[in-house]
Amino acid sequence: MGVFALIFLVISLSVLLPGLASSFSSSSPAKVVNGSHTDLAALLAFQGQLSDPHRILASNWTTSVSFCHWVGVSCNRHQQRVMALYLPDMPLQGELSPHLGNLSFLTRINLTRTGLTGSIPDDLSRLHRLRYLCLFGNRLTGAIPSALGNLSRLQVLDLGVNILSEQIPPGLLQNLGSLKKVSLGNNYLSGHIPSNLFNNTPYLSLINLGNNSLSGLIPHGVGSLPLLEYLYLSYNQLFGKVPTSL
Ligand SMILES: *[C@@H]1O[C@H](CO)[C@@H](O)[C@H](O)[C@H]1NC(C)=O
Ligand SMILES: *[C@@H]1O[C@H](CO)[C@@H](O)[C@H](O)[C@H]1NC(C)=O
Ligand SMILES: *[C@@H]1O[C@H](CO)[C@@H](O)[C@H](O)[C@H]1NC(C)=O
Ligand SMILES: *[C@@H]1O[C@H](CO)[C@@H](O)[C@H](O)[C@H]1NC(C)=O
Ligand SMILES: *[C@@H]1O[C@H](CO)[C@@H](O)[C@H](O)[C@H]1NC(C)=O
Ligand SMILES: *[C@@H]1O[C@H](CO)[C@@H](O)[C@H](O)[C@H]1NC(C)=O
Repeated sequence: MGVFALIFLVISLSVLLPGLASSFSSSSPAKVVNGSHTDLAALLAFQGQLSDPHRILASNWTTSVSFCHWVGVSCNRHQQRVMALYLPDMPLQGELSPHLGNLSFLTRINLTRTGLTGSIPDDLSRLHRLRYLCLFGNRLTGAIPSALGNLSRLQVLDLGVNILSEQIPPGLLQNLGSLKKVSLGNNYLSGHIPSNLFNNTPYLSLINLGNNSLSGLIPHGVGSLPLLEYLYLSYNQLFGKVPTSL
């Protein structure tokens, strides 16, 4: 079992970035809309926020064919609703549209290394079927929205290698009882790791909080995670014992 956790004293730069300034008025009209139309509008809004310099989406996401045939989009068979948005390593460049929160059948987002900037929209927390949220390797800024703590079916939360700052929201993992992997490593997170962060995450096998500006104690709960295999906490200013139960 590759369990190791080296704790170094590293003075890290802590960069202050503008916090989330996103508040969206959502006064949706009380008319019945076909869910596929909602999904189409959301995908086009997502595309509209990206500069897409290689015209990956511009050349493919054409409304002459169903969005279910667009590159990176998978639908469920019967309802023609978007289930996955999978565009890793595509240079999309730009901010995440809050309209993504309208893709209510979405179970997987993989936008690893796509040149995303700006903050993570609170609206993603409305994707209550979401299992995988992979935004690894972008240039996302601001705090981790505490609202992500509402994604109760999440199994993988990978926000590693970004420019995220501020504290880890105290209740972030409280309702994420299905979580298997959480990676917030290589960001600019600061403050203490919430002491109860791992109190309700029995399926966690991987925790990566390494290379941030976290300080204080390593939460006790880490020691009682039965399936934990990988724990990365290095390059922070943490102290205390790695629980001997590991
Ligand atoms: C919604 O629109 C899509 C595409 O136009 C169509 O395939 C589907 O049958 C429609 N669903 C309903 C419930 O009208
Ligand atoms: C868009 O990409 C998909 C998947 O790669 C491909 O099957 C489809 O033919 C492309 N459509 C257009 C209009 O280029
Ligand atoms: C979609 O999401 C946006 C932002 O969250 C919202 O303003 C809009 O009313 C939503 N609904 C539709 C049908 O686009
Ligand atoms: C997301 O895409 C990356 C790059 O292709 C891949 O390494 C990773 O396993 C994917 N994650 C998920 C949950 O699909
Ligand atoms: C989670 O969802 C509930 C109900 O939709 C809402 O009242 C609450 O504010 C949300 N929590 C967060 C942290 O956004
Ligand atoms: C830590 O993060 C910084 C900035 O993201 C990066 O330049 C550095 O290589 C990382 N160090 C390690 C050991 O991963």
